[in-house]
Order: sequence, then structure tokens, then C-alpha cells
Amino acid sequence: MTHPIIFDTDPGIDDAQAIAIALRHPEIELLGMTTTYGNVDVETATHNALLLAELAGQRIPVAQGAAQPMVKERHPPPAHIHGANGLGDIALPPVQGRAEGVSAAQFIVDTVNARPGEVTLVAVGPVGNLAAALQLDPGIIDRVKRVVIMGGSIREGGNVSPVAEANMFNDPDAAARVLTAGWPLTLVGLDVTHRCVLTDAHMARIEAGQGALGQVLAGSFGFYRDFYREALGIDGCCPHDSCALAWLLRPELFTTARGHLTVATEGDAEGQTIFAPEGRGFIEARWSRTPLVDVCLGVDGAAVSDWIADTLA
Ligand code: BDR
Ligand code: CA
Repeated sequence: MTHPIIFDTDPGIDDAQAIAIALRHPEIELLGMTTTYGNVDVETATHNALLLAELAGQRIPVAQGAAQPMVKERHPPPAHIHGANGLGDIALPPVQGRAEGVSAAQFIVDTVNARPGEVTLVAVGPVGNLAAALQLDPGIIDRVKRVVIMGGSIREGGNVSPVAEANMFNDPDAAARVLTAGWPLTLVGLDVTHRCVLTDAHMARIEAGQGALGQVLAGSFGFYRDFYREALGIDGCCPHDSCALAWLLRPELFTTARGHLTVATEGDAEGQTIFAPEGRGFIEARWSRTPLVDVCLGVDGAAVSDWIADTLA
């Protein structure tokens, strides 16, 4: 089976690894990329998305989207994690192509409506573009096949606050809308991405297999790995964004639970994803009123990490 997808992204080193999978995997039809601020500003995100596709020898539509959160002030991009250019500050070749003339939100709406029931939205950055698409045309809720989001944390705790994952924290107001919209949705959060480690040995295979694209993936990898060594004490990096595609293509490597999500939009818990399992009663009903979704809780992390390397080797 082939999955037609739109990949919503803020590349970003782990985004770049996932983009390579989206470009190369024979079971993915990459209809387009939509870009957002997050790891970098949105112009840099667009530049990097165009560049990565060109390095793979492909012409993929790229539509630029959100430059800032819906409500809150934007934090500066995390240059210490992804580099000021989003790709570990390595030297990059020039880009030939340009972004589409429509916004990311319009691109999502038009593409989903052109192929009702077929298109999966895979979002691996702050989710403002999906929130804007919902605002433009709420009818896409019934026409999208599924929404897969790298973001959030159920039991793992946060990575940018004690409780919040970065993509949710960066735009909690957008996340609150997108995670409760009522479309078929799977959350691939830190509970599983922190169990996966892409190592030097994996990256050596990827570099050997991906030509010019592999050089950028391998060159940027060192910067990201050094951050993870320091921050988590692991020998490699967490390939967060590739895990969303791994769930789509290899769901048997994951365990999931069904339930209701609430996103905290203010205060100390801002960006936290609160999960109420289906059928479980709490003292009040408020956590169980949102539509049912699926969240990832477990993963065969070694198998997912090998799958990433195998796909790109
Ligand atoms: C997420 O935040 C970003 O830094 C990564 O690209 C990933 O999408 C992990 O929390
Ligand atoms: Ca990302």
C-alpha cells in the first residue's frame, strides 16, 4: 500500500532525516511539504525543505506557513540544538526552486479536498499550519485519511519544560485545536521517540546510501548527536520526527492506547498533553469530553532505529 502524505515540518536536523525517508520510501507518495517556524524561522525551514528535495533529485511542492504561534510570543529558535541554519551549521549548496504561491494551510486544504479519504497529514513541528487549515475549511476533518503528529508526551515528561514536549509547547493554542478536532489522529510523542537512538553506525550506512543528501544528513548529525550526549547522556540522537513515519509504515513496532487528549495552553503546564484513557472515570468528566484519539505508549526502539537506517541505506 502507498500512503499519499503531506509532510508538515520545521527542518531541523531530525526533520531532515524524516524528510529523506518521505522522499525515498517506496510506500510513501510525498504530495508536498508545508513549513513552519520552530527549530528555525519559517524562511529557513522553507529553504531547507526545498534543498533536501533537490539533493534527492526531486521536485516536491513546498508551501510556506506559520511564522509564529497563534497566541503566545515566539521563543528564539534553538540554535544550540539544530544550528543557526537548522542543519548543524554545515555549509549548504544553493537552492534552485521556490516555494508555492499558496500558504501552507491553503495547500493542505486543496490537496486533501482533491483526494478525499486518501491523504495523511504527518506533522513534525508546531502545528499552526494544521490549525490554520482547520480554520480555512473544517470540512477537511471528514476528508483527511489520518493525522499523525510527532509531539506531546503521555508518561515521559517533557523535553522543554518538566511536562511539555517542544512542538506542543511552541504553539499550545494550535495544538489544543488540532489534537481535539475530531479527525482520526495518532500522537507519536516522547514516550516512544526517547526509546529510539540513531547512532554513528546507523548514520555511516545512511551517508553511504544517500549521495549528496547523505552528506547533509551525516554532516548535520554530529551537531545533534553532541547535544543529545550532553542532554540525555546517550550515544546518538533521538530521531523524533522519523518515528511518525515509522508508526505510519510499521505500526506493529508500536503499542498504542485510545483515549482523550487535552492540551494545557497557559501556566506552568503550558504545552502539556493530558491523556484520559477511554472508559476510565475521573472525578469530573472534563478530561474525557474531547474526541477519541490514539497515542503511542511503547515501541521497539532498536527496530525503529534499524528501520530508519535500512530505509536510507
Ligand atoms: C521535536 O522538537 C523538534 O526540536 C524536533 O524536530 C522534533 O520535532 C521533538 O520534541
Ligand atoms: Ca521537527
